[in-house]
Amino acid sequence: MRKYLIAGNWKMYTTPPEATTLASAIAEKQQFLSPPSSVQTLICPPYTSIYAAVEAVKGSGVRVGAQDCHTENKGAFTGEIAPAMVKASGCSHVIVGHSERRQYFSETNALLNKKILAALNEGLVPIYCVGETLIERKQEQTIAVVRSQLVDGLKDVSLKSADQLVIAYEPVWAIGTGLAATSDQAQEVHAAIRGFLKEILGAHGAETLILYGGSLKPENAEEILAKPDVGGGLIGGASLQEDSFAAIIAMACKLAL
Ligand code: PGA
Repeated sequence: MRKYLIAGNWKMYTTPPEATTLASAIAEKQQFLSPPSSVQTLICPPYTSIYAAVEAVKGSGVRVGAQDCHTENKGAFTGEIAPAMVKASGCSHVIVGHSERRQYFSETNALLNKKILAALNEGLVPIYCVGETLIERKQEQTIAVVRSQLVDGLKDVSLKSADQLVIAYEPVWAIGTGLAATSDQAQEVHAAIRGFLKEILGAHGAETLILYGGSLKPENAEEILAKPDVGGGLIGGASLQEDSFAAIIAMACKLAL
């Protein structure tokens, strides 16, 4: 049976009341779909809506994650949120190194490595994002870029089980643009990532889920999710509507059987 993680990245959308409405609607869809245990569902609201989302999905099987965390667990770091706080708020996962963090907040592989180690230390599952820009793709640098993001970002990471970590391949040119990678483009990079993960993580690297992200929607999800090295999706725009998010979960359920 294939495993999938269908994760919604809500970015900077939803106030707490809006999060309650959306998370409740997703929980309802989830209960209707009743996915097998091999298909996990996750929503990642902004920090201020995490509590509302956790309350709204209670008992539904939908998990909640954060979109980022700091490298330290406490201290004088005004404005930051510690991994321990994320965990204690009811989150199971945390997105680390989303391309918007790399691009707008200058996050480097070395910093992201510290965040990943800190999150793992708290028992959170980091969803580590990698991916090339359009220029890098045009210069045929995609595989080299992704390799160094993985080698540097996963330095000193040693897993006890494959499900402690998730990777998301998100080509920067596909995020929020409506222009997704083709299923073949996605599979090509996912296969390369699988090889690097085995090199870096050993046996667990063969099992770690690799999500695709970048304009994933009901229209293209089935073809992309069917590819052998695609283990789910990290979904922005289409995760903000319960119908499109549920349609993608339904496809994962179908493919998992
Ligand atoms: P998108 O975003 O689905 O809106 O392209 C994906 C992401 O940024 O994780």
